[in-house]
Amino acid sequence: MEVLRSVVVLLHIVGFAVTFGAWVAEAAAGRFRTTRVMDYGLLVSLLTGLALAAPWPAGIELNYPKIGIKLVILVILGALLGMGSARQKRTGEAVPRPLFVGVGVLAFSAAAIAVVW
Ligand code: HEM
Repeated sequence: MEVLRSVVVLLHIVGFAVTFGAWVAEAAAGRFRTTRVMDYGLLVSLLTGLALAAPWPAGIELNYPKIGIKLVILVILGALLGMGSARQKRTGEAVPRPLFVGVGVLAFSAAAIAVVW
């Protein structure tokens, strides 16, 4: 069970890596768009995060305030990505820069909270 939990944590971190990596790639390429890859990474983070939020194996202690804050950040990220893709479809242009920067800052902050708190 402990190994299984570690595998789910690994997948959870991969979800973050996919979202943040896609964001860095867009920024580095100067496109400043939100992408489906970011959506998929976020979905992986959410599903694995929810699985980890249950206290298994028995006896494990979880930091629920921390998990709650990450869940709030994830929901805001989902809203920003949704707004971004809707706008891109409508206008064909890159998303407004504050929205793009917000995605990166929030994804980074969630990882920072997970690791530093
Ligand atoms: C973008 C959003 C998120 C990021 C970047 C993120 C990042 C991370 C990282 C790097 C870890 C490993 C470090 C650690 O164990 O503390 C972790 C662990 C964990 N995450 Fe997240 N997370 C996110 C969202 C969520 C959500 C939405 C939930 C639950 C609803 C969640 C639940 C957990 C749990 C329970 C652990 C602890 C695993 C353990 O100690 O066994 N995370 N997260």
